[in-house]
Amino acid sequence: MATTDMGELFQQKIDKEIKIEPRDWMPDAYRKTNLRQISQHAHSEIVGMLPEGNWISRAPTLKRKAILLAKVQDEAGHGLYLYSAAETLGMSRDQMVADLNNGKAKYSSIFNYPTLTWADMGAVGWLVDGAAILNQVMLCRTSYGPYARAMVRICKEESFHQRQGFEILLVLSKGSAAQKAMCQDAINRWWWPSLMMFGPKDSESTNSDQSIQWKIKRKTNDELRQQFIDMIAEQVKILGMTLPDDKLQWNPERKHYDFGEINWEEFWNVVKGNGPCNKQRLDARRKAHEEGAWVREAAKAHAAKRLAKVA
Ligand code: 3HC
Repeated sequence: MATTDMGELFQQKIDKEIKIEPRDWMPDAYRKTNLRQISQHAHSEIVGMLPEGNWISRAPTLKRKAILLAKVQDEAGHGLYLYSAAETLGMSRDQMVADLNNGKAKYSSIFNYPTLTWADMGAVGWLVDGAAILNQVMLCRTSYGPYARAMVRICKEESFHQRQGFEILLVLSKGSAAQKAMCQDAINRWWWPSLMMFGPKDSESTNSDQSIQWKIKRKTNDELRQQFIDMIAEQVKILGMTLPDDKLQWNPERKHYDFGEINWEEFWNVVKGNGPCNKQRLDARRKAHEEGAWVREAAKAHAAKRLAKVA
């Protein structure tokens, strides 16, 4: 059967909401864009452990330390689910990790910002995980089976991540003047980078049209971003705090919040590797990879020994 016919049959499966599985025929471009997105998602989870890991030893109470530890461990697990989903598309985890460590692979821009105070743990949980949840709930319905199934499990844990972040800020917002100021400062620093997590505006999104047609994405970058802004603009009122956008205003005609212009120059600068912490993050990943070589070798030797026994 000609590839064009196979392509038409494939699109009919997508249109009928039939999940695509690893052994199914798929256009090379579908395989490639899923591998691109899923591996970048996995990298984001692993690199995302670094900004929060920075505060585990400095959490204000044992309870906060335990909660933050659990969250950071969850992110590691999310990365492993996603690397496993990506491996079903034909690239080894070693290759994916090598692409991250040599700077070839992307990960989410948001993790290239520093976590300066304890309130940042609240802002990251509330805003970054909040944005991730909107995106990931959508991805529970993505057309590639292994990715969709990984998302279902991840989303269950993300809601705890967002709630613990909001609760950190709620406590600070009811605290001393200094704690209130720390809370507002963290929101001010994390708001715009969180909006950038959803990707460039639709007019500059090179992958979206095809990803929507193949139901990899169900909503565009701008649609998800607007949904996030509408949600947070209400939640921030509970904190008695503000968002750093003087153009943020409810628009009764649009039934959405209008908002100010995102600094796309900053976004692309960070994506290209020139953000505040890009070098620090990659250095940390490379160091962890080098220092973990003995664990990988031991695991491989153990697996080979077990295999020899049953052969
Ligand atoms: N950071 C870095 N690169 C980004 C980006 C961001 N925030 N947003 C977009 N890009 C890149 C894209 O990867 C693409 O480059 P590529 O073609 O070389 O991969 C380019 O900018 C153009 O963007 P597009 O809109 O065309 O790309 P997509 O269609 O892939 O949409 C996306 C971008 C919405 C991020 C999509 O890739 C996606 O939904 N990814 C899965 C979710 C994800 O990765 N989230 C990251 C955070 S994970 C997280 O927060 C975990 C939580 O537990 C803390």
